[in-house]
Amino acid sequence: MTVSSAPGKVYLFGEHAVVYGEPAVPCAIERRATVTVEPREDDHVRVEAEDLSIDGFTVEYSGDAGGRPDVDVPTPLVDAAMGYIDAAVDQARDALGMPDAGFDITVESDIPLGAGLGSSAAVVVAGIDAATRAHGDPLDPREIADRAFRAEYEVQDGQASRADTFCSAMGGAVRVEGDDCRTIDAPNLPFVVGFDGGAGETGELVAGVRALRERYGFAARTVETVGDVVREGERLLTDADPDEDASDDLLSELGRLMNFNHGLLEALGVSSRSLDNMVWAARMADAYGAKLTGAGGGGCIVALDPTAETETALRFTPGCEDAFRAELADEGVRAEDDRAARRREDEGEER
Ligand code: MEV
Repeated sequence: MTVSSAPGKVYLFGEHAVVYGEPAVPCAIERRATVTVEPREDDHVRVEAEDLSIDGFTVEYSGDAGGRPDVDVPTPLVDAAMGYIDAAVDQARDALGMPDAGFDITVESDIPLGAGLGSSAAVVVAGIDAATRAHGDPLDPREIADRAFRAEYEVQDGQASRADTFCSAMGGAVRVEGDDCRTIDAPNLPFVVGFDGGAGETGELVAGVRALRERYGFAARTVETVGDVVREGERLLTDADPDEDASDDLLSELGRLMNFNHGLLEALGVSSRSLDNMVWAARMADAYGAKLTGAGGGGCIVALDPTAETETALRFTPGCEDAFRAELADEGVRAEDDRAARRREDEGEER
């Protein structure tokens, strides 16, 4: 049995625009998806999802190409999650050169699904790592990132950038521009996340921005302006000392750019009333800045605030279901086999 985990992320800057070749800076956060894999004798894939912030579900389906769960699961989010797991299995089989490899897979995640925190990327990254290690053939994190991107690209009908998957595989702050993906030595940032309990449909939201961009020159320029904001933010981050806490000046400047970025995303039609409410609650609580994170339409915002004020304000904001501080996750994808073995031993001793 092999166990891998990979972190979720927030976008400091640049979601949506990154799909059109502008740079983006996502940052991995300490909320992880954990995938356990056991190879099977046959070519079937059995998936058990313990906690995807929705009711748990268990399905069994054939490993044949195009195989789908043999149960009728109505939740679109569950369908979406299955699509990502399917695609991760395909990538692992391809990497292993074992098109008929079967797996028992268990997914646990403390990243809300479809809420802008990179849940699908984390599941795909951890899944590919666990499945390839299960056959004694571990992949380098950059190859995992590349394969996870291909999986997301397929599930999202070509509407995906490398940002989420690269960030989840590598950890820390990263910069992605087209195929050019790099890690950034950034200082730790005081992220606070607000979650409205909802989710956006990434494919539809990306398609909406694409349509606007094709129709109006000013929408295309809005997308380019997001790129300008990102370049400015990236300059600030790379000039800062990664070993020191972010200074007040740095946080003020980053916060101003986050506010700007949110306004541009709002203009591109991907915010929502609850996201705007949470952004404003954070600003009124004196956060340095706040913006939606991820595809938008519902889900999460991210704010910068080292004090408890923003988290408290968000908890009292209508439409906000959860608020929490999110630490930067320095580690990307990692093996959890030892931890899992220790947990099993502890459980054995308790019995
Ligand atoms: C979704 O988390 C981020 C988007 O930029 C899409 C992508 O980069 O794949 C909206």
